[in-house]
Amino acid sequence: MTDLVSPSLRKQNVPLAIPFTKAYLTGNELRYITEALAGNHLCGNGPFTEHCHDWFNKNTGAAGTFLTHSGTSALEMAALLGDIQPGDEVIMPSFTFVTTASAFVMRGAVPVFIDIREDNLNLDETLITKAITKKTKAIVPVHYAGIACEMDTINAIARENDLLVIEDAAHSVLSSYKGRPLGGLGTMSAVSFHETKNIVSGEGGALLVNDEKLLDRAFTIWEKGTNRREFFLGKVDKYTWHELGSSYLPSEMTAAFLWAQLQQAQYITQKRVEVWHRYHDLLQPLEEAELLRRPQWSQDASINGHIYYILLPKPEIRDALLTHLSKAGVEAVFHYLPLHSSTAGQKFGRAGSDLNNTNHLSACLLRFPIWVGLGPAEIDHIVTLVKEFFGL
Ligand SMILES: Cc1ncc(COP(=O)(O)O)c(C=O)c1O
Repeated sequence: MTDLVSPSLRKQNVPLAIPFTKAYLTGNELRYITEALAGNHLCGNGPFTEHCHDWFNKNTGAAGTFLTHSGTSALEMAALLGDIQPGDEVIMPSFTFVTTASAFVMRGAVPVFIDIREDNLNLDETLITKAITKKTKAIVPVHYAGIACEMDTINAIARENDLLVIEDAAHSVLSSYKGRPLGGLGTMSAVSFHETKNIVSGEGGALLVNDEKLLDRAFTIWEKGTNRREFFLGKVDKYTWHELGSSYLPSEMTAAFLWAQLQQAQYITQKRVEVWHRYHDLLQPLEEAELLRRPQWSQDASINGHIYYILLPKPEIRDALLTHLSKAGVEAVFHYLPLHSSTAGQKFGRAGSDLNNTNHLSACLLRFPIWVGLGPAEIDHIVTLVKEFFGL
């Protein structure tokens, strides 16, 4: 579901000369996993988990980090920590991954979908105030492709209306807004290490908590709703159930893998950014010829090379280009069938604005392969195929 590969490509059994994604391995993953095994601490919250937590606290300014099994479970933890109750409303884009919404629906909340901006496909901050009702509890900005939402405006609206801001920073490791790291700007944020992301652990995620007042409860929720942490700190002689939580800790083997990745996070990001810019430069003439649109971003936002996408003028052109690339063995994918038009989105959510940009842009978007090791010759080949498609 994360990446929507053309079913026709799958059916035709076309060999993938250029896959959409390939996780980069640093070479230290197995070494650290072996160390974890030798250390005889296999469950969660051991030394490797601590290294990963420290890395995020240092690199985002978070007051506390909690590794989880996925970005999805980080969002589910955020909904518990945010004390989201049945009937509460949560404002978010419809152009996002399923679990941005389902994490809140699980607590009985209603996702209120607002439209995205035409330039960067992030939620349109100018639509938020109109969508706020007495039931609104939180705003969930999704930094699409690792490009920052207008966080100053979003945080100001949240402050005025006493709302939580839960950043969906699944795409956003080492991206920033006005020089401030994404994930460190809302009340809390969720990060993903799914194999398609920049920094991976197969499946994995983290909840970053930026409000110190929430830390004690975050520990409790992370540890199945118990005060197990106080027990290990020697503050109590037994631990018991205190509130609703779950088993969110990944094992030390996952944390060991992740630590190997985080140590090279700057390198991985830089290499992906190089791929990103090569596409961007080579596609400029096609944008000038009005054949397609390239990503746009403001001076306030940085690029972390997570996603390179183009927007075609019409859905039919997008679909035809996707088929053209597929036939040549290039795995290009589209992204996010809007949640408001899905069966569950209609059942559990509602629209908080018109969703015209969401409907149109999601149908016109095409993502190109991007990974560390994708060489200039392969990128040039993909762009040549795109030019060929347009008869250039
Ligand atoms: C915007 C967004 N939020 C949340 C998630 C969920 O992350 P995970 O796959 O780690 O559960 C994804 C996954 O692709 C995503 O794209």
